[in-house]
Amino acid sequence: MRQLFPVTDMTAFSAASDREWSLDALADAYAYPEGDAPWLRANMVSSLDGAGQHEGRSQPLSSETDMRIFGILRGLADVVVVGAETVRLEGYRPARAREAFADRRAAAGQGPAPVLAVVSASLNLDFSLPLFTEPLVPTLILTGAAAPAERVAVAREAGAEVLIAGDGAGVDPARAVAVLAARGLRRQLTEGGPRLLGQFVAAGVLDELCLTISPTMTAGDAQRIAGGPAVAVPTRFQVASLLEQDGFLFTRYRRI
Ligand SMILES: NC(=O)c1ccc[n+]([C@@H]2O[C@H](COP(=O)([O-])OP(=O)(O)OC[C@H]3O[C@@H](n4cnc5c(N)ncnc54)[C@H](OP(=O)(O)O)[C@@H]3O)[C@@H](O)[C@H]2O)c1
Repeated sequence: MRQLFPVTDMTAFSAASDREWSLDALADAYAYPEGDAPWLRANMVSSLDGAGQHEGRSQPLSSETDMRIFGILRGLADVVVVGAETVRLEGYRPARAREAFADRRAAAGQGPAPVLAVVSASLNLDFSLPLFTEPLVPTLILTGAAAPAERVAVAREAGAEVLIAGDGAGVDPARAVAVLAARGLRRQLTEGGPRLLGQFVAAGVLDELCLTISPTMTAGDAQRIAGGPAVAVPTRFQVASLLEQDGFLFTRYRRI
């Protein structure tokens, strides 16, 4: 994998700069900022023509290295925040405790695996799935105060912890960030989907975007990586790093 930015080596574009990145080197490169403030990072993949999924899944746009970085970002996070539709369509499972991250996580005061936090208004989720019945740490459900009481009861019975982060049926995205941070879950990672990510963008709480640009085109009318109502003024980001492997670009942008 080549590091194209920051340019630390003038041969960055040559085969000579192509090197194996160890897990530790990648984890260092993607480390969260120090400090007590919450930091919300998104990890998404897009085709060249802007598709955020193909036939309902992101896997056709992904690659082995993309999945490796996906795993690194999870290994660094306190919490993975994900929309209910992505959980339903992508068959989410609990996050694994990976031996390779054990020392790093212990040193950072983190549990062995990140907590999964599912954002849902309906709580129309299959609570018999391992995501809810077998996690290392109870899966969180972020919902609104008006969530259906019977679904909240089913969720709790299954072992999930239900957190209220909105006054109505839905979650207020900024409040979700604050509620998680108040539980000590500061290093936040959202894996989408586009409807959820669009709300984090619109609320002005997305700090960083790790976007994989997949060297594919899909045409069609697939969602982009962020949907929902447009923001009044486009939010500006600046590039923090750019890696390349097999034509896939692993970009990392920070909000200015
Ligand atoms: N390209 C990528 O990197 C990437 C990443 C993730 C997913 N995807 C793809 O994106 C698709 C799914 O994404 P999506 O945008 O349709 O859905 P999504 O954002 O994953 O989930 C939408 C659902 O989340 C819940 N939700 C969202 N905002 C909420 C709020 N403010 N308050 C309460 N609940 C809220 C609702 O759940 P309830 O209906 O339960 O109320 C809503 O139906 C899949 O095809 C997946 O493969 C792509």
